[in-house]
Amino acid sequence: MMTTTTRTFCYVLVMISFTVLMGCCCSAKIYKVGDSDGWTTNDDSYSDWAKLKEFHVGDSLIFKYDRNFNDVTQVSGALEYEFCDSSSPTAVYNTGHDVVTLTEPGSYYFISSNHTRCLSGQRLDILVVHDPSHRIPQPPPRKIFPFGKTYNVGDSKEWRVPEESDFYFKWSEEKQFHVGDNLVFYYDNEVNDVLEISGDLEFISCDPTSPVSVHNTGQDLIRLTKPGIHYFISSKTGHCEAGLKLRVIVGPLPKAVPKKMMKLSPLDRLIKWLRTFKPKPHH
Ligand SMILES: *[C@@H]1O[C@H](CO)[C@@H](O)[C@H](O)[C@H]1NC(C)=O
Repeated sequence: MMTTTTRTFCYVLVMISFTVLMGCCCSAKIYKVGDSDGWTTNDDSYSDWAKLKEFHVGDSLIFKYDRNFNDVTQVSGALEYEFCDSSSPTAVYNTGHDVVTLTEPGSYYFISSNHTRCLSGQRLDILVVHDPSHRIPQPPPRKIFPFGKTYNVGDSKEWRVPEESDFYFKWSEEKQFHVGDNLVFYYDNEVNDVLEISGDLEFISCDPTSPVSVHNTGQDLIRLTKPGIHYFISSKTGHCEAGLKLRVIVGPLPKAVPKKMMKLSPLDRLIKWLRTFKPKPHH
């Protein structure tokens, strides 16, 4: 009796091992990113390269490039990918011949930490799924932007010396910013830049001499991570004085709002509101 149980157990164990091994070794593929071109600035982006492929857990990517001029920076989200923001990477590879194994399902974002290169196409975004032979349900794609709104500063006017000197004042006055929101500054970086400065006095006098941070890519993503007042000016002569200055008041995360409410789309909210008018059934 005992022996039979043990035998059955061993048999099952062997079968499981076999299945796992087969699943792992028969399906795992190795992809060379960009094929013969390798990892480089690419006019037709890497989305074309990735388009017809299905990446599975266990597959690997090989990035081949000149390590003197390049690297592979893995970033955590679609927003970092979109704005080529390598300031908080989840991994950095720089051997010139990197093998990255895709160990979990979900979205993977790879960019070059060289902002210029990234913007001109050296970035790859792929979705990794469980191997269908494992019959594990696929998770929904994790291409979800972090909580918070993203504002394009100045909207269509972007970041440039405004016609009316109070333009950015008005732009920010009518909005409510919260921790978790993002500002994106678009501008011609041969003409302008963005300096975050620390105080009201510097802001009023347009004093660029002790900035908190300097941005000059022409497409800067700035996260509002702390509540309080944040000040941004241009350091270019006369620009700030002419009104190229922005003050935003950032409130704390709106914690009072229950999670359920936040998930409702405007349409859902309308429907919910309309339902409140429904006559209650009489008994
Ligand atoms: C970024 O890449 C560009 C284009 O290849 C190059 O001209 C520039 O020197 C690089 N910048 C840095 C900081 O390596």
